[in-house]
Amino acid sequence: MDEEKAQDDIRPYTGRHTLRRPLCIIYILLAVSYLLIIIGFAVTLSRAATLSSQLSETYNKLKNQPPVLDFHLFPCGPETRQWEYFNGKCYLFSLQAVSWQQAKTKCEEQQAKLVIIDGFPKQNFIQTRTRNERFWIGLHGLQSGNDWQWLDGSNYGTGFKYWKQGEPNNYLRRNEDCAQVWLNGEWNDFTCSSNCYYICERPAPSASPAGSQGK
Ligand code: BGC
Ligand code: CA
Repeated sequence: MDEEKAQDDIRPYTGRHTLRRPLCIIYILLAVSYLLIIIGFAVTLSRAATLSSQLSETYNKLKNQPPVLDFHLFPCGPETRQWEYFNGKCYLFSLQAVSWQQAKTKCEEQQAKLVIIDGFPKQNFIQTRTRNERFWIGLHGLQSGNDWQWLDGSNYGTGFKYWKQGEPNNYLRRNEDCAQVWLNGEWNDFTCSSNCYYICERPAPSASPAGSQGK
């Protein structure tokens, strides 16, 4: 009897039941920890995915927007070296010599017009770039009976003029019906079918909304 009691007293300390409970708790804790780790991992993954999609969205937006700095450095557009900026407009000094009509068409093909010279600032800008070569401008006397006409309809009579002394002269009785800048940038009338360089003019492209803030 005493022996039996002694056995019973020992059982709680050595029996299987007493070992199972803490093990069970450990397993549960482990399972919960794993679950938490998996949930944490999933949340992190989904946050990373959201962040990455936001990043690529922002990147695409920025990529499609011309950089603001480009418009300050290259007001005529970062893609072209040929167009030069002056006072809100862009100018192309051609590298090819063609007739006045062809020059007019070439400018129009580039959403531009043969240059209209309306005063000293523009005249000065032009004559420092034409190196005494002949460059067609947007002034002609092609309509018989009419005086000289600017292509944009500006009033010739009251407007700025910069003819070389003695010009326009229909030299050697030729019909010199098209105007050009020539020596020292002064104007000369010349036969329209002759091949000369030309100057195109167009408004400077407007910058992106962010870039236009300072304009
Ligand atoms: C030009 C004329 C101009 C003359 C002036 C010629 O070479 O073709 O347009 O009037 O020079 O001397
Ligand atoms: Ca002439």
